[in-house]
Amino acid sequence: MSAVSEAPAGVSAIAPHGGALVNRFASEQESEQLRASADSLPKLTLNTRQISDLELIATGAASPLSGFLNRDDYQSVVHSMRLASGLPWSIPVTLSADRDEAAALTLDGKAALQDEAGTLLAILTVQDLFTPNVQEEAEQVYRTADPAHPGVAALLAEPQVRVGGEVTVLSLPKHTDFAEYYLSPAQTRAYFAKQGWRTVVGFQTRNPVHRAHEYLQKVALEMVDGLLLHPLVGQTKGDDIPADVRMKCYRVLLDNYYPLDRTLLAVNPAAMRYAGPREAIFHALIRKNYGCTHFIVGRDHAGVGNYYGTYDAQTIFDSFTPDEIGIVPLKFEHTFWCTKCEGMASTKTCPHTPETRIALSGTKVREMLRAGEIPPMQFTRPEVAQVLIEAMKSN
Ligand code: ADX
Repeated sequence: MSAVSEAPAGVSAIAPHGGALVNRFASEQESEQLRASADSLPKLTLNTRQISDLELIATGAASPLSGFLNRDDYQSVVHSMRLASGLPWSIPVTLSADRDEAAALTLDGKAALQDEAGTLLAILTVQDLFTPNVQEEAEQVYRTADPAHPGVAALLAEPQVRVGGEVTVLSLPKHTDFAEYYLSPAQTRAYFAKQGWRTVVGFQTRNPVHRAHEYLQKVALEMVDGLLLHPLVGQTKGDDIPADVRMKCYRVLLDNYYPLDRTLLAVNPAAMRYAGPREAIFHALIRKNYGCTHFIVGRDHAGVGNYYGTYDAQTIFDSFTPDEIGIVPLKFEHTFWCTKCEGMASTKTCPHTPETRIALSGTKVREMLRAGEIPPMQFTRPEVAQVLIEAMKSN
């Protein structure tokens, strides 16, 4: 059966991963009772990434997950890129605890999940306690155990025990920056339906938008009804450009160059893992839950340094049948501006030699922006460059 089913015109036709959109928010009635019970429960304090994961679970962005992975699902995800049920899932979404915290927990008991300020976020039912082999997890998920890899470093820094179990969410930290862009999967799906979009392409990004990004998005938009620009705004590594600056870049770009009736800008609250190929699958499944039927995967998607081959994040989709994944990956070659073609191109469309390409390294662009210089318009739109220059000045 195809995941893009026959639906009435104007209704986003793709089913959430696993068939149903999860909602793990407590009802009003439950909330009162759960809040009252929380005081006497053992507490677990979530870090920034785990709070992002909690948000993905609560809103259904991580459907079918209804909590943090138990041991069976964890082992299966690490070794087979599937949940124990067989459903594709590529990144272990786990909750860690140190040995003292874990000692206070009992199987089938409850725990109160809180943020670092002690605000109650959720109640977890403790269904499993286990100690993972993190070296193995690193090798399988990140394809390296090198502690210099930012995802591996985060994994190695976590406390040893994992707590598996379903969550019921009472509150999430308030988003103050660009709050109106936090749309839940139910909201994006409703928007697509209202717009009458039957096919929607999702775009993941963690970097300031540049001409290659714009090219991929617009080539894709030639083929589908709508575009979901979905920058990741959860935790990123320290030298990535902060999310509020990236959102400003998107706003000036949209105002000047995009068909607003065919584009929706919203954010993905997830944290970056930099797991390259495995994360490409994760990113695609999340966007499927938001209602996208297609997903852009370009060169070195979610990669960092030289850990992954340029197209590994594309070939990994061959590990699954198209029906299992449901959302269709739109795979793009490395794209660049060719001075002879006078436009964006890739080796698939451009016959010229590499000297004709405008190739600027990220470092070079940063240097220019820091010096207040606008990089060539073939690399970045001047309106976007201006936002970046202003942001660097105030830094
Ligand atoms: S990522 O970590 O979110 O993948 P980035 O924001 O740089 O990083 O990329 C967003 C998307 O655009 C990814 O799918 C990536 O593969 C793609 N991409 C970025 N630059 C290029 C390029 N020059 N050519 C082809 N694809 C690209």
